Amino acid sequence: MLLSNFRIPVNFSIIVPGDKSVSHRSVLFSSLAKGDSLITGFLEAEDPLNTMKSFSKLGVQFTKVSEGQYKVSSPGKSGLKTPLSELDFGNGGTGIRLSAGLLSGLEGVNTQLTGDASLRKRPMKRIIDPLTLMGADIVSMSGDGRAPLRVTGKKLNFIKYKSPIASAQVKSCLMLAAIASDVELEFEEDELSRDHTENMLKFLGGNIEHFTKTHFKIKPPFSFSGAEFKVPGDISSAAFFIVFGLLSKSGTILIKNVGLNPARTGILTVLRNMGGRIDVENEKSECGEIIGDLRVYPSQLKKAEITSDLIPSIIDEIPILTIAGLFSENGFEIKNAEDLRAKESDRIHSMVFNLRKIGVEVEEAKDGYAFNEIKEVKSAVIESFHDHRIAMSFLILKTLLGNDISIDDDSWIDTSFPEFKSIVNRLKT
Ligand code: S3P
Repeated sequence: MLLSNFRIPVNFSIIVPGDKSVSHRSVLFSSLAKGDSLITGFLEAEDPLNTMKSFSKLGVQFTKVSEGQYKVSSPGKSGLKTPLSELDFGNGGTGIRLSAGLLSGLEGVNTQLTGDASLRKRPMKRIIDPLTLMGADIVSMSGDGRAPLRVTGKKLNFIKYKSPIASAQVKSCLMLAAIASDVELEFEEDELSRDHTENMLKFLGGNIEHFTKTHFKIKPPFSFSGAEFKVPGDISSAAFFIVFGLLSKSGTILIKNVGLNPARTGILTVLRNMGGRIDVENEKSECGEIIGDLRVYPSQLKKAEITSDLIPSIIDEIPILTIAGLFSENGFEIKNAEDLRAKESDRIHSMVFNLRKIGVEVEEAKDGYAFNEIKEVKSAVIESFHDHRIAMSFLILKTLLGNDISIDDDSWIDTSFPEFKSIVNRLKT
């Protein structure tokens, strides 16, 4: 088993940046709501800022008040206008997919949505197909189901949709299309994907009726007025320091104000099943979301089965969970996670490729990978594959081991967690 000699400084505490999923949604819902809103705790990273820039082109005013705090003035959904230029979502899959839904349902608003080279490779058919069933006019301009997308906003119709994948982006895209167009939507998925859109809709007083945890209907009218959106800290960003705290030799890490939505806390379940000690303190509820502080203790980890029902709630945390697996008795295995191939990079390939570079004998499958208990790893130059979470995961490994692992390009970290490297440096002093 690998061991780290890293000692965490006394009384080490951090506040992770705002939740990326909730930040995107705060822009979209405050744009739909007529009047003034206030967003606090907003993640000022490239992805959500691109969504904000896009909606400012539609006539919504975002004024920065202080760090993470924005005043929003929107004419409401009926006042949004065709922008003068295309909307560029950069690297943000959530930004483009959720916005494509909202814009499809805005009659009279015509837009073109695009992103960087990595985003333009990602599948959009998963939203184009159901939106088309709703009567949307959305076209993949590349002709192969990828961005750029041309959206001609229209009044949509009711559909009852059973999603073939448990994806919060697909679910939220359709919900926002229905909300923008003021039509009913019935939606079902096999496993619960993150439900921030449902929570925000409820928080604004929207009508949502659940038949089961994974099957619901939303009903118009959807006319919201401005509100105060409080964005909690991102558990997906916290995950890097949770794993760091568990694998350190001594000391504890306190991570404050983390969003603990049950559809996002799979990382805590899995790490606890592996033997990790993570305590929750000061739990409370804000804007329809549970938040709390996490205290993480050094723990000896062992292999634990990760069942398929947990996959949607850990989908973004699998790279850093794999790093925990390198330090676990009996190794690590992830399966039933084929959608990892459709993330910012093909994360099965990115992880297997880099694990092999550091000397890990890893077996690749269509839907995951596995390795036995690891005794040592080699130094190597890690390829980030334009993927922030790959870069951050291997930087955590490097810091824990204090070895010569380096990353070819860590600028991708800025898409979600610009303060990441300064927190790591603070740990080292
Ligand atoms: C997100 C949903 C997930 C996740 C992504 C953010 C969201 O994607 O991977 O980082 O905010 O809805 P999928 O819905 O494609 O699984």
